[in-house]
Amino acid sequence: MTQQFKGLLIFSFLLLFNSCIELPKENKNLTVKNVMDDVITRLYKEVPPEKYNTIDDDYMLNFLSEQEKSVLATKYQYFKVNVPVTVSLMRDVNQPTIPFWLKDSGFKKTAEIVKNEEYQYDVWQKDFEAGWVNLGINGFDMHRTVYFISVGPKNSGDELKITEVYPEKYSREIMEKEAFTYHDWSDLEITEFPKELEGQVLFTTVRGRAREAHVKGAFRKTKFPSSNTPDQILLTWSKDPVNSIDIQWRTDMTIEDGLVKYWLKSKTDTLTVEAGKIVSEDRMLYNDRYIRRFTANLSQLIGASTYEYMVGSKESNVWSNVRNFKTEEKDQNKFSFIWFGDTHKDAKWGEMLQVANKRHKETAFYSIAGDIVSTGLYRSDWDEFFGVAKDVFSYKPLMPVLGNHDRQDGLGTRMYYEIFSLPKNGPEDVHPESTYAFKYGNALFLMIDSTHPNEAQTEWIEEKLKSTDAKWKFVMFHFPPYNFEEPYLDIQEEWCGIFDTYHVDMVMSGHIHYYMRSKPINNGIVVQSFKDGTIYTVSIGTTGNHNDIGEEPYAEKRYKDGQFYQHMAIENNSLKYTVYNKEGVIVDELTIEK
Ligand SMILES: [Fe+2]
Ligand SMILES: [Fe+2]
Repeated sequence: MTQQFKGLLIFSFLLLFNSCIELPKENKNLTVKNVMDDVITRLYKEVPPEKYNTIDDDYMLNFLSEQEKSVLATKYQYFKVNVPVTVSLMRDVNQPTIPFWLKDSGFKKTAEIVKNEEYQYDVWQKDFEAGWVNLGINGFDMHRTVYFISVGPKNSGDELKITEVYPEKYSREIMEKEAFTYHDWSDLEITEFPKELEGQVLFTTVRGRAREAHVKGAFRKTKFPSSNTPDQILLTWSKDPVNSIDIQWRTDMTIEDGLVKYWLKSKTDTLTVEAGKIVSEDRMLYNDRYIRRFTANLSQLIGASTYEYMVGSKESNVWSNVRNFKTEEKDQNKFSFIWFGDTHKDAKWGEMLQVANKRHKETAFYSIAGDIVSTGLYRSDWDEFFGVAKDVFSYKPLMPVLGNHDRQDGLGTRMYYEIFSLPKNGPEDVHPESTYAFKYGNALFLMIDSTHPNEAQTEWIEEKLKSTDAKWKFVMFHFPPYNFEEPYLDIQEEWCGIFDTYHVDMVMSGHIHYYMRSKPINNGIVVQSFKDGTIYTVSIGTTGNHNDIGEEPYAEKRYKDGQFYQHMAIENNSLKYTVYNKEGVIVDELTIEK
């Protein structure tokens, strides 16, 4: 062998070695997310917006590099097995396009089916040797009924061990009747499956995973893009309303710093406080993918005072116009607030808010009982919410709770946390700012995230109610324990007894789009006096969607359609509750004397 030939052979071997070893090594650091982040960036550069809706599977498969395809075909879900296994992949029969990698990777469609109460799935199978099992994306569409898998040893008698699972956060269950597959729809149970899968390891998932590579019809445009001028200016309280306030706003990415200038009204001494900042991304929002959000905490304020303020950037010298807010008067026994049921960023709700804000100038703050928007991880939804709310919440704080729509298909509620600075005084195992308590005047407000497990919050609720000296006790959470459609018996069982024991005056909810005010209820039974029972309310800021609202013997007042707002005026021992419709007509009212 000549030296030259030998050299060529070694070189070829190295090339081969590199192509076998190095490519997967490179892929090792790549995830579906960062591949899709890059792909979308490239699409924005190369494709004009009017073409976005023509992008389909064929287009994507041409557009992607081989390496990108390989990541999308292998890094959506992976794990290691210690013995040879058969992987069964359950694919919704109604998903029009088969994931591009499925057949190529050796999966074969069987004649078997799996069913749950809503859907039917084809069963695709592939055998794997001991080692890695790698699976690809659900598709470029957003088919929310994403595939799920079960895994069993190929040779009976082998003891299967599954390790290094990605994503590890979704539990592994046992394949059996009544097993669930989607954490964001855990009531959806398996009703039918091939006998051979019985007892296998069932990998659960969330429907939100359909969005990981969603491109077909995924591009959105916000009606309210950011600019260098601060907007979406929002007041909340994360601490004591007597001496502090939080101010939040957004700008485009050209603004690097955030500052609040504030002063006591009619005084000239101006104070400043720097704001924290984050970048908020909505990948598919093509006209405003990245924005900055700023949050400033103002403290050591003087109670019962009006402050004026402006927010902006010192470096860029761009400022909002002047707004104002009022601090709470310590130990005051007279105040009012307004709350809404589901608002769903409805423009008509926005109009009602403007009218309510003018009509009740004394209102100290606003609350929304969840479903503030409709799709919680679309920033375009939040932009619409602020767009229709206009400047109201830059003068009066908004203290909301989360609804199921403010989360998204099991993916959580990142944007809600980015937007609202709220008290971090909730139960230990619940995300801070998700469930919280605050006191205003002589009233305690328990603001509960009922999309979190009930049990994790019970002890905290009891502790807060037990230890308060507040005269009025209000509880707000999204899912109404009493309603005509699907009473939340679990909440009745878990929390309502505590509300009875410590005499909560009113529970405020939404979710079922109608209006209901109950008679006072104690231990599930209607009682005569407000002194002996709690009032349960459900309201809607958007319009109703029920023709028939059945019957509810415990109800005092009901309407099948909205839109409403609830004005709550407290003066010492008296609560005046007045419900207005959009036209300003009073549709329900009530006075409670303690
Ligand atoms: Fe809703
Ligand atoms: Fe809801």
